[in-house]
Amino acid sequence: MKTGDRNYQSIWLDEDDPSIVRIIDQEKLPFYFETMALRSVDDVYFAIEEMKLRGAPLIGAAGAFGIYLATLEITSMTDIRDHLTNAARYLKSCRPTAVNLAWAINKVMGSLDFHKPAKTVSENALTAALMICETEKENCRQIGIHGLELIEKISREKEGAPVNILTHCNAGWLACIDYGTATAPIYFAHEKGIPVHVWVDETRPRNQGAKLTAWELREAGVPHTIIPDNTGGHLMQHKMVDIVIVGSDRTTRTGDVANKIGTYLKALAAFDNNIPFYAALPSSSIDFGISDGIKEIIVEERNPDEVTHVTGFSEGELRTVRICPEGSVAANYGFDITPARLVTGLITEKGICRATEKDIEEMFSDKFS
Ligand code: MRU
Repeated sequence: MKTGDRNYQSIWLDEDDPSIVRIIDQEKLPFYFETMALRSVDDVYFAIEEMKLRGAPLIGAAGAFGIYLATLEITSMTDIRDHLTNAARYLKSCRPTAVNLAWAINKVMGSLDFHKPAKTVSENALTAALMICETEKENCRQIGIHGLELIEKISREKEGAPVNILTHCNAGWLACIDYGTATAPIYFAHEKGIPVHVWVDETRPRNQGAKLTAWELREAGVPHTIIPDNTGGHLMQHKMVDIVIVGSDRTTRTGDVANKIGTYLKALAAFDNNIPFYAALPSSSIDFGISDGIKEIIVEERNPDEVTHVTGFSEGELRTVRICPEGSVAANYGFDITPARLVTGLITEKGICRATEKDIEEMFSDKFS
């Protein structure tokens, strides 16, 4: 997507040095726009762990590039299979909820022949990582095309009055290499001249909505309003939300949706107010091996400091301040599960389907066993 006068993806191979993978440092946005070089498996691990890069499809792409960077560490003494298997295990352990990480790493590993010379293994790993990026970009573009139909329909019903879309966290191009999942239909609608307005949940504790989604939408010129996380229900009761579109970090074969903590409450409020609630996701975010999201999806628990402290920009620098009594205990669950019964539909690269096992199987029959 365009920012300033340049087109960016949220991850790419350095144009001059193919041993470097570059990302946008999302921890610094919206205050500073800085790119960051990843040169090793450890660099990838810490960038994901410290949320310099985040969002399910992007974490997957970074994991794929991580295997490529691991191939650059191979020497004549290295057992290639052992080395890459260890790198894969290490990278997968970084964050547990988004299935894209393991999916992408497995895809790269599955494309390699460990008996080939190191140079060939490395070239093949790079090809696989770049292919994942291209495929995910195209998947997000398709999600945009399919999701646009929903917005167009509402716009027609409202006779051209702005379509009010509520979204949670950041499921935008920063999280997805390009376009975004939840945001792709919004960008396409805006480009087409359909009036839209986005309610942006701030998304405590890390504020990915207020910091990242708001930055993306502002860069693209899309009208938006940042709201405290608890505002959505009130807006829905007063018919100020036409549709909710969120992303997903892992969706079960039965349509349960794991996404950023707080998503479930938005789905409940939408259900109570008869407002359509959609999750937009590429098939790399579907875990075809599990059926019960609440029982089977591991919800990441993060450092409680993210709850007790807030980072923002003041007097020309980034500052972190405590916002609660010293000594109070905080809990920091990263994600929650929205049961399929609360999900109106899934917007995928293949089209829109209901969040049921039958519909998901019909759409992705090749992935079902
Ligand atoms: O903890 P994060 O910032 O990686 O969580 C991101 C989300 O929950 C997104 O909504 C999700 O990855 C959807 S993917 C575009």
